[in-house]
Amino acid sequence: MRFAVFSDIHSNLEGLQAVLEEAERRGVDALLCCGDIVGYGADPNACVGLVRETGARCIQGNHERGLRELDEGLEPNMNPVAMEALHFTRAALGDDHREWLLSLPEELAVEDSLYLFHGSPADPDEYVFDSFDAAYALKALAFEYPPPANFLCFIGHTHVCAAYAFDAENHRVGEKAVGGGDRFLVKPGAHYMFNAGSCGQYRGGLPVATLCIMDADEMNVEFRFLRYDVAAAQAKIVAAGLPVSLARRLGMGQ
Ligand SMILES: [Fe+2]
Repeated sequence: MRFAVFSDIHSNLEGLQAVLEEAERRGVDALLCCGDIVGYGADPNACVGLVRETGARCIQGNHERGLRELDEGLEPNMNPVAMEALHFTRAALGDDHREWLLSLPEELAVEDSLYLFHGSPADPDEYVFDSFDAAYALKALAFEYPPPANFLCFIGHTHVCAAYAFDAENHRVGEKAVGGGDRFLVKPGAHYMFNAGSCGQYRGGLPVATLCIMDADEMNVEFRFLRYDVAAAQAKIVAAGLPVSLARRLGMGQ
């Protein structure tokens, strides 16, 4: 069984298409998404429609939760640019797509194989930026979530790919920098957390769309960094009247 795991599409249709084409090329059996399907980009309806068409199993990110908070008269905890994009998304989204987004769970156990979270397993709003954050997150995964799926999880939220491992016996956490094409073995006896990066707004310094290919038979996780039509996504953001900074950052991968 092979899974394609991706995250943080953020209404970037070109990035999502690149990821789905790679998943198809690799012949994966199932698609998994760690949330933030919308927000920031210009194509919320097309992205939600495409994700739903593929049958990908998805969870909510903080941008989906932001839509619900707006409905409830609450103020989402977001910066002004993200808020502007959230209001754009709310106005643009069709009712059916909106209801589907709001129906998504905040976390998901995928059979006995793995968990999906948007932010940290300890708290969906928390970012996991380094091994210190990862220690807290992996202890929550190991001790608060039931086996057998709690040996492995995928997250998003930071928009940067990363790999962490936790040896529960010795309470030791390992962190590895991730590049495109890197492959990590998932060994018995440890707990693993992989950040799938972002399809639609990568922040690791490269203008790419990223995904993970998880081979549950070989027990390895491969990271793919994909070039996509950044200029087209940028032009749509500008044409939609969204903040220009959202277009600019796609070109810098930040
Ligand atoms: Fe995000």
